[in-house]
Amino acid sequence: MSVKTLEMNMLNYIDGVWTASQTGEVINSMNPANQSEIVGTIQRSSMEDLNAAIEAAKKALSKWKKVSPVKRGEFLHKAADLFEEKADEIAELATKEMGKAVKETKGEVLRGAAILRYYAQEGMRQMGEVLPSVNPDNMLYTKRVPVGVVGVIAPWNFPIAIPIWKIAPALIYGNTIIFKPAAETGLTGAKIAEVFEQAGLPAGVLNLVNGKGSVIGQGLVDHKDVNAITFTGSNEVGKQVASGAVVRGAKYQLEMGGKNPVIVLEDAALDHAVELTVMGAMKQTGQRCTATSRAYVHRLIYDEFKEKVLKKVQSLKIGNGLKEGTDMGPLASKAQMDTVLKYIEKGKEEGAVLLTGGNIPAGKAFTSGFYVEPTVFENVTRDMVIAREEIFGPVLCLIKVDSFEEAIEQANDTIYGLSASLFTSDLSKALTFVNEIDAGLIQINGETGGAEPQAPFGGMKASSSNSREQGQAAKEFFTSIKTVTMTPVCK
Ligand code: SIN
Repeated sequence: MSVKTLEMNMLNYIDGVWTASQTGEVINSMNPANQSEIVGTIQRSSMEDLNAAIEAAKKALSKWKKVSPVKRGEFLHKAADLFEEKADEIAELATKEMGKAVKETKGEVLRGAAILRYYAQEGMRQMGEVLPSVNPDNMLYTKRVPVGVVGVIAPWNFPIAIPIWKIAPALIYGNTIIFKPAAETGLTGAKIAEVFEQAGLPAGVLNLVNGKGSVIGQGLVDHKDVNAITFTGSNEVGKQVASGAVVRGAKYQLEMGGKNPVIVLEDAALDHAVELTVMGAMKQTGQRCTATSRAYVHRLIYDEFKEKVLKKVQSLKIGNGLKEGTDMGPLASKAQMDTVLKYIEKGKEEGAVLLTGGNIPAGKAFTSGFYVEPTVFENVTRDMVIAREEIFGPVLCLIKVDSFEEAIEQANDTIYGLSASLFTSDLSKALTFVNEIDAGLIQINGETGGAEPQAPFGGMKASSSNSREQGQAAKEFFTSIKTVTMTPVCK
């Protein structure tokens, strides 16, 4: 197979300078829609590169934390303008690196800009509070200060929005950053750093290194000068991040997997429920922590729901994410495709009934990339692997239930607790669902995925470290509180 390399070689960004790694080695970024295309190269950073980036962030911190938050907000507004201007270019690059449809990557860039604008405004809001004191003459107040040098470890599935929802609050609250994007989307990560450079961010405030999570990610977690780590990724790696951070007393925040249920009741607006269940499961080829994975459907409407789901799933256009009209691109890598196919085989072996999909799509166009058909199973029981483990691919399990209570009980029977949806027109059931379901993100008549920048994002149980990202919640992670008592005493 002849391999075509596109001319894009991104360097590390350390202390305001784009620099080659001391290893002299690079990592290829491959196009998952076309294995014969190398989109470009990123650096394989060494521990020396990482140390230099941490040193630069440490040095920049003393000045950056003294910049007024209002002024810091101006950098964020400028970056938002640039993301909007470059939305097409960055979206195309992200699609080439990880495969999802360009309408989704473009949506992500614009979402990133909206997040930046939200946090730019945060620079004008409260950074502490005044409290009453037992001594009425005292001034008792709190002042929020930056946690310090922050390590940002980001995943490949949302290569733009997730780094920005970590970087934007870190910056506005006065922290400096070492950003490590996923190796699969290192070029997109470098573009993000480039935008902040063009927005005029001072040298050393945001630094970029690349490489393996087990080397560079772990190096960040273990480094004595990194005060906090924010991580989105798998549960397995999340646990390592947590234990590394705990050992040396660093702050950490983890967002991890999901096995997100929807419940569809007999009084639901059926077409709406079908549309959002399918999109929740198949959008981004199912590679979202918030993807819909299990649908508990009341037996009275089960057959009609199933028929409509199958019609919708079979109408989805699979193809190269760059092509107009593509609904579902390839999976992000061969490893991801192999994992998804393995889960599909396991589902069949364990006796689930495959209703549609389950294979690599037929046709020459699909053999060069990592494509898997949108897949729907039924007769899935709670003990089956496909009902329990996060698949991170386009696989939906349909489960017939006799009652709302049974649906909630089964939906909660998982280690995860990220997002969950209920489709109903019964307000009292909606309120019960909010009380009973184990999920950090709850939708009534909405899709399990998606989040607005002003609202806290995160899960319960094994889906997170119980901290929340975005909205005002981000302030808890990216700041520390000083409590100040001023007692007026005259000489
Ligand atoms: C994710 O699911 O991985 C990110 C959140 C979203 O759905 O937008």
